[in-house]
Amino acid sequence: MAIPKAHCYLAILVVLFVVSHSQNVCNPECKAKEPFNCDNTLTFNRTGFPKNFTFGASTSAYQIEGGAHRALNGWDYYTHRYPEKVPDRSSGDLACDSYDLYKEDVQLLKRLNVQAYRFSIAWSRVLPKGRISGGVDENGIKYYNNLINELKANGIEPYVTIFHWDVPQTLEDEYGGFLSRRIVEDFKNYAELLFLRFGDRVKFWITLNQPYSFASKGYGDGSYPPGRCTGCEFGGDSGTEPYRVAHHQLLAHAQTVFLYRQRYQKFQGGKIGTTLIGRWFVPLNETSNLDQTAAKRAFDFIVGWFLDPLVYGKYPMIMKELVGDRLPKFTPLESALVKGSLDFLGLNYYVTQYASDAPPPLPSQPSALTDPRVTLGYYRNGDPIGVQAPSFVYYPPGFRQILNHIKDNYQNPITYITENGVADFGNLTLANALADNGRIQNHCSHLSCLKCSIADGSNVAGYFAWSLMDNYEFGNGYTLRFGMNWVNFTNPADRREKDSSKWFSKFIGQ
Ligand SMILES: *[C@@H]1O[C@H](CO)[C@@H](O)[C@H](O)[C@H]1NC(C)=O
Ligand SMILES: *[C@@H]1O[C@H](CO)[C@@H](O)[C@H](O)[C@H]1NC(C)=O
Ligand SMILES: *[C@@H]1O[C@H](CO)[C@@H](O)[C@H](O)[C@H]1NC(C)=O
Ligand SMILES: *[C@@H]1O[C@H](CO)[C@@H](O)[C@H](O)[C@H]1NC(C)=O
Ligand SMILES: *[C@@H]1O[C@H](CO)[C@@H](O)[C@H](O)[C@H]1NC(C)=O
Repeated sequence: MAIPKAHCYLAILVVLFVVSHSQNVCNPECKAKEPFNCDNTLTFNRTGFPKNFTFGASTSAYQIEGGAHRALNGWDYYTHRYPEKVPDRSSGDLACDSYDLYKEDVQLLKRLNVQAYRFSIAWSRVLPKGRISGGVDENGIKYYNNLINELKANGIEPYVTIFHWDVPQTLEDEYGGFLSRRIVEDFKNYAELLFLRFGDRVKFWITLNQPYSFASKGYGDGSYPPGRCTGCEFGGDSGTEPYRVAHHQLLAHAQTVFLYRQRYQKFQGGKIGTTLIGRWFVPLNETSNLDQTAAKRAFDFIVGWFLDPLVYGKYPMIMKELVGDRLPKFTPLESALVKGSLDFLGLNYYVTQYASDAPPPLPSQPSALTDPRVTLGYYRNGDPIGVQAPSFVYYPPGFRQILNHIKDNYQNPITYITENGVADFGNLTLANALADNGRIQNHCSHLSCLKCSIADGSNVAGYFAWSLMDNYEFGNGYTLRFGMNWVNFTNPADRREKDSSKWFSKFIGQ
């Protein structure tokens, strides 16, 4: 999960009262108004989803493993050197201690009844220097072998994210990480190591997680490592670096997919794709043409930035128009390589935002954040509509809308919802944290809308809850909890089942 830092906590997940006129009613109804809950959380269950539909849960390495026994990455460096960048001044040094507790993690998954687990591999745990020539850490390989074997022994399918934002610090120091094109070769070689060592058992590979967030937060507003932006103390250029970093992520992805398809896919028989942020946008003023095109621009700049190259081999036309020479260009060969480089699309859906037209930014201060000429908000007329303190709010109909938009405009790719969920504040009492009815409502209502989108014809093959357990929330430390299981961060072996875990388990088990 990635929280837009500029927005206050209560705005994290949002209610929008937009009635969708054009969609069919399906059962259970995908409600456009509060309460979003599906008709009956007691009876709603997986019946009605396709038989081969996959239900799972997600995590990522930096957020759960702890930093023991691996080389430093960008998040270690950033949280240690600048603790004030995170509200509770925390780091992922211990987190859920999944390095030691992976067997307990698998037991939580088993209790959850899920068929699949999406986790990520920490690049610097298997390659301490970031590249093969610097040596492979066999202890790191062994850790993931143990985890994968434990999953398989429990009948749980591993879905592996190759890169979830944790660049080995050696590669940052040496050539600036994703700022440099050299990352493409190192990324591909790292991925190949994973195919060689784990590909006999891992059949689902996700190259990247939310490349939009990595580019726009690491290099646009500087809120994630390496903390770069125009005027940032680390240096940077918000008008060019996010585009370069995004471009290199796309090339690293495409080269890796090409390699996998050439050398491994035939005999390993797996699938490879990538995970994008799946944010949806609605016009603030529904009858204003300017706001309508602003909503479309927001989608093109945040989702289309990656999805257009992946499906069509080129950046959206509107990005070329508004970003001009600051937008890197694909050579014809690169374009052909990127185009179609997905066996499946991974989508992380959390929020829908209001979009309104914004004036062009000052040409002297270009930024990837203002290039779209859109003001995004969770509020209409200054009011946080529908916020039911203290729990967060969200908009499930936008889930159906974005899926239908992708179906209609991007050749209806096989899609896995690789994350969906909702946060509580980290400081709830244990009793309140365990009685997480709000999270049940969240998953239940999103699953209702997902079911509607499948009925509309979307090619969705799976749904992964974020998250298996409370963990280190990038940029928010331990002040937010997204888990279906509670974790005591001073003693991470102490985990407790929340009501949402019981609900999801029952939902799947029908
Ligand atoms: C599961 O859902 C189906 C279809 O809506 C329903 O007929 C069945 O009663 C549900 N099962 C339970 C245990 O509620
Ligand atoms: C919404 O847009 C329409 C069409 O441009 C305009 O007439 C109307 O005043 C706008 N409403 C608000 C509340 O700004
Ligand atoms: C809990 O944390 C949130 C945000 O971190 C803060 O706004 C709120 O005041 C805290 N509540 C208590 C009771 O400490
Ligand atoms: C699930 O089964 C349906 C019907 O047999 C098939 O069309 C679809 O491709 C399958 N999906 C996956 C992800 O295997
Ligand atoms: C978390 O663990 C610590 C250390 O064992 C313990 O003191 C504390 O009471 C635990 N917190 C809760 C809420 O159980």
